[in-house]
Amino acid sequence: MTPPVLQVQQLHVTAGDQSIVRDVTFDLSRGELTTIIGPSGSGKSTILRAINRLADKESGLQVSGSIRYKGCDVFRCCPVNELRRDISLVFQKPCIFPGSIRRNVLFGVRHHQPMSRTRQNDLIEKVLRQAHLFKEVKDRLNKPAHLLSIGQKQRLAFARSLAVNPAVILLDEPTSSLDPHSTIEIEKALRELKSTCSILLVTHSLEQGRRISDRVIFMSNSQGFGTIVEQGAVEQIFENPQHPDTQQYVLNR
Ligand SMILES: Nc1ncnc2c1ncn2[C@@H]1O[C@H](COP(=O)(O)OP(=O)(O)O)[C@@H](O)[C@H]1O
Ligand SMILES: [Mg+2]
Repeated sequence: MTPPVLQVQQLHVTAGDQSIVRDVTFDLSRGELTTIIGPSGSGKSTILRAINRLADKESGLQVSGSIRYKGCDVFRCCPVNELRRDISLVFQKPCIFPGSIRRNVLFGVRHHQPMSRTRQNDLIEKVLRQAHLFKEVKDRLNKPAHLLSIGQKQRLAFARSLAVNPAVILLDEPTSSLDPHSTIEIEKALRELKSTCSILLVTHSLEQGRRISDRVIFMSNSQGFGTIVEQGAVEQIFENPQHPDTQQYVLNR
């Protein structure tokens, strides 16, 4: 068996003396899409932020436990820029920079490697295709990105995260405010990407979780802090959940 790409073990995140998440342990494997589901406030976003080292002193949070990426402790042995290139985070609200679509796609890449115009063009086309956006924007790559619809902006943010060729992609409710067309396009893109990336997706939509997950993690905050109640293969969590909290969340909807 190939070792997991990412191993989260006994992750605790606190804000002062308040626990946000406790005892979070799971692995991400290559070629799999893992979904985190659970009620609002159960710490789903906090887990993604902790993996990307955004849950730090400046945000008022303290993290303990271990997160290992390809065997290395992300808090100790990975420089943060390299970590965020290898593990990229797509936020719930698409983050769009001033300037053109083209500039937005290349935003992260330019910090890492100089590239000829031809290679840039190839890369832009490749990642916009992967994000299922190319056809819609191919004639206006030099136009301002802020003119795009919200669904197109989210796919642009996704394309930008792909441009740095990450090994792991974290997505925080990327389709929560999108139209059905953009949602379907993002889901198609995620399915295709699984062969090259490990994907960790937070979603509020159980239907989406059912459609695209391989594995599912169910979080609850019934104890006053976020914790994993149950995790397993998608069929197990949705068809045969074992824990009463999972049963209530998944079956009574
Ligand atoms: N920087 C922070 N300082 C204090 N509390 C926080 C901070 N970030 C998140 N929280 C709290 O942690 C809990 C979990 O938040 P979050 O991870 O955003 O949950 P979810 O994404 O599952 O809705 C919430 O009660 C939130 O208010
Ligand atoms: Mg959230």
